Amino acid sequence: MRPHRSVLTLVVATLITAPAAAQEPIRVASPDGRNEARIHSRDGRIHYSVERDGNPVIAPSLLGFEFRGAPPLRDSLRITGVTQASRDETWTQPWGEVRQVRDHHNEIRVGVAETTAAGRRFDIVFRAFDDGIGFRYEVPEQPALHFFEIQNELTEFALADDARAWWIPSNRPRLDRSEMLYSASPMSLLDSVQTPLTMRTARGTFVVLHEAHLVDYARMNLAGQRHMEDRTLRAALAPLADGVKVRGKAPFNTPWRTIQLADREADLVPSVLGLNLNPPNVLGDVSWVKPMKYVGIWWGMHIGTMSWGSGPRHGATTANARRYIDFAADNGIDGVLVEGWNTGWDGDWIANSHLFSFTQSHPNYDLNEVAAYARQRGVRLIMHNETSGGITNYEDQMEDAYRLYQSLGIDAIKSGYVADGYQGHSHWSQFRVRHNLKAIQTAARYRIALNVHEPVHDTGERRTYPNMMTREGARGQEYNAWGGEGGNPPEHESILFFTRLLAGPMDFTPGIFDITLASADGGPRSPQESRVRTTLAKQLALYVVLYSPMQMAADLIENYVNQPAFQFIRDVAVDWEQTRVLDARMGDHVVVARQERGGEDWFIGAITDEEGRTIDVPLSFLPAGRSYVAEIYADEADSHWMTNPLPISISRRTVNADTRLTIRMAPGGGQAIRLTPAR
Ligand code: NOJ
Ligand code: CA
Repeated sequence: MRPHRSVLTLVVATLITAPAAAQEPIRVASPDGRNEARIHSRDGRIHYSVERDGNPVIAPSLLGFEFRGAPPLRDSLRITGVTQASRDETWTQPWGEVRQVRDHHNEIRVGVAETTAAGRRFDIVFRAFDDGIGFRYEVPEQPALHFFEIQNELTEFALADDARAWWIPSNRPRLDRSEMLYSASPMSLLDSVQTPLTMRTARGTFVVLHEAHLVDYARMNLAGQRHMEDRTLRAALAPLADGVKVRGKAPFNTPWRTIQLADREADLVPSVLGLNLNPPNVLGDVSWVKPMKYVGIWWGMHIGTMSWGSGPRHGATTANARRYIDFAADNGIDGVLVEGWNTGWDGDWIANSHLFSFTQSHPNYDLNEVAAYARQRGVRLIMHNETSGGITNYEDQMEDAYRLYQSLGIDAIKSGYVADGYQGHSHWSQFRVRHNLKAIQTAARYRIALNVHEPVHDTGERRTYPNMMTREGARGQEYNAWGGEGGNPPEHESILFFTRLLAGPMDFTPGIFDITLASADGGPRSPQESRVRTTLAKQLALYVVLYSPMQMAADLIENYVNQPAFQFIRDVAVDWEQTRVLDARMGDHVVVARQERGGEDWFIGAITDEEGRTIDVPLSFLPAGRSYVAEIYADEADSHWMTNPLPISISRRTVNADTRLTIRMAPGGGQAIRLTPAR
């Protein structure tokens, strides 16, 4: 059902070695000719720039490095040679938001060397795709860089105009790191921000800065100048405890710096630039990596009716787990997550990261019995590994833990890193990046897939390691359970779609039906208190809008009983053949259609912000001449996220490729549709 080998349709690679004193500027254009990167060398420094349709997007921007204990690699540089290559190849994702991905690009490799005695050398490789530009530094083996400490990567992104940016900060010391609400402002006012950083230029072009293939390096944030006259963002690498950003030795490659480009926000998705810049699958047959829907002993901890640790509310009891397994089995939900199953939660678990055991279960929880029961009922148990940042403690137990899980038939882990760094290293430092790879590779050896919370941002690891399935790395549903104004505003998900989700799948955990949190302590909450700022139909739409190959039905299972709307969660796919954004505006609304992989159904998810909207959607993506039954989960006429969030209308009609659907959404609402071929 799920092909796991790449299909190579066409590869064209040519190599042209240009004379050493190459013509300047050196250029590389995308196959459609619209995106062009240029490399300039002037006064011993190397800059690059990017144009789209001949209009500047990135003005000349510096390249280079500063080292600790060695002169910078920035001055006295000259270009020594240029080679070109092209590729056109289509590969298949073992699972994903689209099945086939086309990697079609032109490449230039620019050799650079110092003219000074040290004579250090590196290459800068640019790839131009129709959906953007990627570039990286490749440093060959050489005595002068045998061992090095990068103090700063000098890469700049000088925006050609004061584009509007949607951003979250990167310099706030908090436990949750990427879990802020987005702000929008002119990019010139940015201080220090995370990527993906999505911007819209005055001309209307969308520009997204991010990185791809982050391995044994530090995560890149971007630092601005907060000055209208200076529109340059600079790479700001996350530091190790001693302030060094990256320790390494040549040969080495930096991650790719990516500049995704699109004419409209709808064209930003699916975002595959970063996937194309990652190496292909190294795990071979990954048919054991299976997308899933899951329920879990989880939301109760966040709304206060359950606890992770010991006590009268301890959620992870054997009996509770059996109840969740039964619910999953009876409702066609693939998996069950159990948090609080292990020892280490009692006391201040954030401070006591060294106390977590990843093999020892709480006395209330019989791991063997639960695992056996899950196997018996055909349900996949997801092991929870909260590390609270205790990376050494986790790594020390990793082999034993993963071996144990595999022996119990468990093939998925949700891990967590609730911490503000570790032993002085930034949460996103090279130290943590190395740990990620170790966890991914170790899990792969035990045929376990990962869902990582408080992660390093997604840079496309899933292409090389398809067991790296999904992660958090943004403000998810959990914030709606906590404190009042700390909840997510209705516009949140229609910003996430064009920012965080461009990096890769997100475990947002949709599907809260008890929107006013009536089942929480203290009963229903007013709009000012903590609750979910949504309508019920919007919660369903999020399964289609916010892509994740592991998709949670996040509410307490009792809240799904006798709820006709739950049928959509039973039915919705988690693995896709193709994805089409039908209508979208950053921060306002998203309408996306996805075709189920290995099936014929299509699903449409539409969400809006605090404004009600009516959007006309042609179904021309359906095959001509074929009728479909549309099951429509819509807001009622008087639905409103604040005053009337629960009413939902469920209706059916027959549609085809000529139909224009009118999607009406309440303020804070949405709509979810399943399209099944008519018999
Ligand atoms: C934060 C995660 O995002 C959440 O899902 C989890 O329940 C807690 N950490 C505890 O691990
Ligand atoms: Ca979190």
